Amino acid sequence: MKLYHSLEQWLSWMDELADRDYLVVDQFVRKDIFSALRSHFLLSLPSFTKAGIGALNKNVVRHDIRGDHTFWLDRSRDKAIDSYWHLVDETMGIFNRYCFLSLSGFEFHFANYPPETKYARHLDQFNDRSNRMITMIIYLNQNWQKGDGGELEIFLKDGSTRIIEPIEARCVMFKSADLPHRVLKSNKDRYSLTGWLLYQPSSLGQFFG
Ligand code: OGA
Ligand code: MN
Repeated sequence: MKLYHSLEQWLSWMDELADRDYLVVDQFVRKDIFSALRSHFLLSLPSFTKAGIGALNKNVVRHDIRGDHTFWLDRSRDKAIDSYWHLVDETMGIFNRYCFLSLSGFEFHFANYPPETKYARHLDQFNDRSNRMITMIIYLNQNWQKGDGGELEIFLKDGSTRIIEPIEARCVMFKSADLPHRVLKSNKDRYSLTGWLLYQPSSLGQFFG
């Protein structure tokens, strides 16, 4: 089957991810996928709920730590973004074949950070649930401007940090267990599609904050 991104391109991205522990790709999704994601996001907005932190019975809402509202996606229901699901399949296939991971599932949610909200420094794995291997975020903000806030800050092993602006169609990937990160306070509504490629399949994401 024809790849969405060329194999050569994928291999250079995988090298970069291995070298630097994170990867930022602009225009990771073409205009057609971006439009499908953004329309589906806007249509789903009435169903978003306040996100919690922690897994299952430990899931609590703490506005001071995490202020976003989320909507968990379901591939069999959310067919409007089929073209994106195919791109996720391709991404998982590349990780499995060339990075020797055993990914066998994924979970994604839309996230909206209303003005004045943030997400404090954290890792994307919970103590009692560690099947999230790769974090994969796509930003859905049109015309993001400096000063809008809502940047992703990542904390690298050498003690340095990087600031990543949540620009339209930009993709960020990193190893979920290894890279602490936070979302700086957003000054306006900030839209993203955030997901995790999983070691074992899970349809339980919605119970995990
Ligand atoms: C998360 C998260 C980062 C971002 O949802 O766990 O850290 O840039 N998101 O949206
Ligand atoms: Mn996170």
